[in-house]
Amino acid sequence: MCGIIGYAGHRPAVPLIVEGLRRLEYRGYDSAGVATVVNHDIELVRAEGKLSALEQKLSEKNLINSTSGIGHTRWATHGIPVERNAHPHLDQEGRLAMIHNGIIENYQSIKEDLLKKGYKFRSETDSEVLINLIAEGRKEHPDMLEAISWALKQVEGAYSIAIIDVESPGTVYAARVSSPLVMGIGVGENFIASDIPAFLPYTREVVFIEDGELLRITASSWDVFKSDTLEPVEKEINTINWDVQSAQKGGYKHFMIKEIFEQPKVIFDCLAGRVDLANNKVDLPELDDMEAPKRLHIVACGTSYHAGLWGKYLLEKWAKIPVDVEIASEFRYRDPLLDPDGVVLAISQSGETADTLAGIKLAKEKGLPVIGLCNVVGSSISRESDHVLYTQAGPEVSVASTKAMCSQLTVLMLLAFYWSKRKGIHDTKQFAEFLQDLKSLPSVLESALPAMRDRAKVLGRKYADASSFMFLGRGPYFPLALEGALKLKEISYIHAEGYASGEMKHGPIALIDQKFPTFAIALNDDLFPKVKSNLIEVQARGGHIIALTNPGTDLEVEHEWTLPEVSGPLNVFMVLPALQLFSYETADYLGKDVDQPRNLAKSVTVE
Ligand code: M6R
Repeated sequence: MCGIIGYAGHRPAVPLIVEGLRRLEYRGYDSAGVATVVNHDIELVRAEGKLSALEQKLSEKNLINSTSGIGHTRWATHGIPVERNAHPHLDQEGRLAMIHNGIIENYQSIKEDLLKKGYKFRSETDSEVLINLIAEGRKEHPDMLEAISWALKQVEGAYSIAIIDVESPGTVYAARVSSPLVMGIGVGENFIASDIPAFLPYTREVVFIEDGELLRITASSWDVFKSDTLEPVEKEINTINWDVQSAQKGGYKHFMIKEIFEQPKVIFDCLAGRVDLANNKVDLPELDDMEAPKRLHIVACGTSYHAGLWGKYLLEKWAKIPVDVEIASEFRYRDPLLDPDGVVLAISQSGETADTLAGIKLAKEKGLPVIGLCNVVGSSISRESDHVLYTQAGPEVSVASTKAMCSQLTVLMLLAFYWSKRKGIHDTKQFAEFLQDLKSLPSVLESALPAMRDRAKVLGRKYADASSFMFLGRGPYFPLALEGALKLKEISYIHAEGYASGEMKHGPIALIDQKFPTFAIALNDDLFPKVKSNLIEVQARGGHIIALTNPGTDLEVEHEWTLPEVSGPLNVFMVLPALQLFSYETADYLGKDVDQPRNLAKSVTVE
């Protein structure tokens, strides 16, 4: 769960690498470092903390002549986040430097063998063990590719690595197993990185590296091999059609608020080419060669899991498909009873979440087809899946997922519609109206967002000193209550619980007092009377209440927050940004690091 970048070309490597790390910082920001070969020696600069600390150290050095190197931004796994554990790591002779994203699971036993051979270690990391194992391999295999291949055959775990060697300045080696790695192909320069934005200002030509592949880049060449046999592998070059601008803040204070405000466009983009109003249908050609499943097993983590929980309501209601929704980290270690006629739907913004990826592998072992619902094109999950639906939300940079969930909900809704029509059970008139409303949703949301933000600002400030919050919702808004609580805790560090409002009276109501506010979702739907009576129970215990509602409801709570009413399930697209904005305004008022909350990383590529 770190960011890595490697460069071999004609430009000064260090500033280019630091700029790339800036775009990868969302993957981890405990420490950062770069290494390059200068005068037959490795120059290593590392710093604890964010990238600015590394930049400060680099400003005291003169490293502008080097035209190749590697860089790393770290999210700590093995070893506390201090400089000695920061990457790159050197072998004990200081002839090789390596950056690593992932975990070497058997590093202890390898380390013990190396210790017996006299190796000494400067850090507590698994990564330093691996670079020394490669150095050991070099004794028998002077060719670097052979030495790396020899070492990788002995390691278990997940990694994307990049290595430089004083013997071959101008060359970067890299390899991957179960951690993201892409290669950028430029003119007179080549790149490797964990993610495309790292090198996007220089090239849009990208090669996706698969598990078990090892590569070598120089300024004028790139080669990919099978890591175990060193047999050459033919690779396809893909052209990326999004640009650097869409991965920048565009005048907003944080990526999170920019991404919240992008949601009308995200819905528009998700619908583009998929909603056929004239023929009252939804086109998902990616799924045309499969039947609607008898049962759907949804597997996901975090916000994507909440999207899946919401999707269950519509898929069961419209498409009459029984749906189980599972947290991927639980699913992968059970021996789940999967319906042999079922299908697994893996939801992931990044497409790199290790637990979700493991869930896919388990499903495939059990013989079930997998549909990936991903945002990142070419990601591991998209490549492991039998069918892929892209959410088309564009790059999401803020660690707190916002627009990605909006896109997941949109596609889940289209999926429920698509399968109900494929099964011939849809209500033609109702769906024609629904598709019409769906088309106008982006503009309705766009006009509503500024007022929502104003209200969020007032309420966020009023309750910013709360130490705990309860989020309540019922039916399809229960998953939204979970999401509201997750957003608040991850960026403002205020404890929050999401609960089904009818479940309150079975325990959590004991928590309610004047210091424990409740944030409820009480929209104008069939369940409104039930939610209203749940809120009366909270009021009776002296609890303060903020409630999202619609015009004309007879709710009487301390802070009504009225959202425009749209049709049926589309109301979720009003509730979601309101919850996100409340968390954002609270966290910003408290001066928190909104885009890079402590202890978190955007893409969780470790268990
Ligand atoms: O990339 P994914 O959708 O697979 O990520 C899943 C979770 O790690 C992610 O949603 C996480 O919970 C976010 N920080 C939530 O804002």
